[in-house]
Amino acid sequence: MRIYDVIDKKKKGMELTEEEIYFAINGFVAGEIPDYQMAAFLMAIYFQGMTDRELIEMTKCMTESGDMADLSRIQGIKVDKHSTGGVGDKTTLVVGPLVAACGGKVAKMSGRGLGFTGGTIDKLESIPGLATAMDEDAFFETVNDLGLAIIGQSANIAPADKKLYALRDVTSTVDSIPLIAASIMSKKLAAGSDKIVLDVTVGSGAFMKSLDDALLLAEKMVAIGEGAGKETVAILTDMDVPLGEAVGNDIEIIEAIQTLQGGGPEDFRRICQTFSIAMLMLGGIGDEKTCASLVKSAIDEGRALDKLAAMVERQGGDSSYIYHPEKFRKAIYEMKLISPVDGFVTHMDTEACGRTAVILGAGRENKESGIDSRAGIRFYKKTGDPIRQGDVLARLYTSREETLQEGMKNLSAAYSFGAEKPQRMKSVLASVTKDGIQRY
Ligand code: URA
Repeated sequence: MRIYDVIDKKKKGMELTEEEIYFAINGFVAGEIPDYQMAAFLMAIYFQGMTDRELIEMTKCMTESGDMADLSRIQGIKVDKHSTGGVGDKTTLVVGPLVAACGGKVAKMSGRGLGFTGGTIDKLESIPGLATAMDEDAFFETVNDLGLAIIGQSANIAPADKKLYALRDVTSTVDSIPLIAASIMSKKLAAGSDKIVLDVTVGSGAFMKSLDDALLLAEKMVAIGEGAGKETVAILTDMDVPLGEAVGNDIEIIEAIQTLQGGGPEDFRRICQTFSIAMLMLGGIGDEKTCASLVKSAIDEGRALDKLAAMVERQGGDSSYIYHPEKFRKAIYEMKLISPVDGFVTHMDTEACGRTAVILGAGRENKESGIDSRAGIRFYKKTGDPIRQGDVLARLYTSREETLQEGMKNLSAAYSFGAEKPQRMKSVLASVTKDGIQRY
């Protein structure tokens, strides 16, 4: 077989065989196929797409390129959750404890943030002492005992994806729906859970800017999950505004704690409830009504918050921060963004909001940079909110005073204003299963 012929076949829009796909991916990972030919192959996929069968086979090959977790020593149905990325996305910090408090099993391997999206592991590490590296025995034992552990994902999960992503990043082939679907699902399948719930974000702070593209991505990911024999549900959520009010690390942990206590911003609360119910249903805990009532009582009775504290303690962290979030120290410098007009917030460039948080120190400029856990942004006004001139739209926090001016400039450019109240997207837009799409 010659890679030239495989590229040529894909370029002409013909369906590749399993052997051809494995030849291309494995050859690239082994260093036998050079970057320039793989770049041409990726560009051919970008323009011609892939059939579901091709996609299932390519993802399987990428999954098998590295470590594959065997979670069979954890009792019960393990349900994983993954988000396609966003700004202010602290959902795992609420959904994990909530599902575990209702009897579900969450063996979660999460990533660090890069670019404008934050990572669950960075957020968790804001809690003094908390370790996100755990050996396999301790991980299994913790999930068996508590129903929950959140650790950093192994460096050798889907190495084919790592190598492909690096090439996509410099060849303008990141924004391809089949390539995104295979990339995300290869890592999910390698993480070893029995079932998968996907949060497919839509809007100015998401990979998918339109509902139609997000639905297509969701359908592809569901097809891959189901093709691998794992029941998979995708839920589409609004990322046209930052999720909740807090973007950063310490402040997102505090918002997660408030939400586990039944408070927190309404949009974030609704998304957490939706995902918790979906995960519990997939975990075989009950029907929708039963799971909704379990979620409510776990919050009302304080068991969901206790579960987060138990997990923090078990992972070596100081759980007093969970019951006394005022212990998180405030950022040294802060600045208010003030509304220049009367009217409404008509749009937010949410990706720009995420980039502002990075400028302030809340995220990484590159893989080597550190994180300022106190840095971030608190949003008081979002799209659709009425405003008066002089209102505080947002507050910026940082430990590096020199970042404030650039942060202010960027955040102020991220807001648009007008006289008419705009239509705001619903927080939960649609769900996709193997049986089709349901719009809300
Ligand atoms: N997230 C991933 O892991 N891969 C992509 O290709 C896009 C988003």
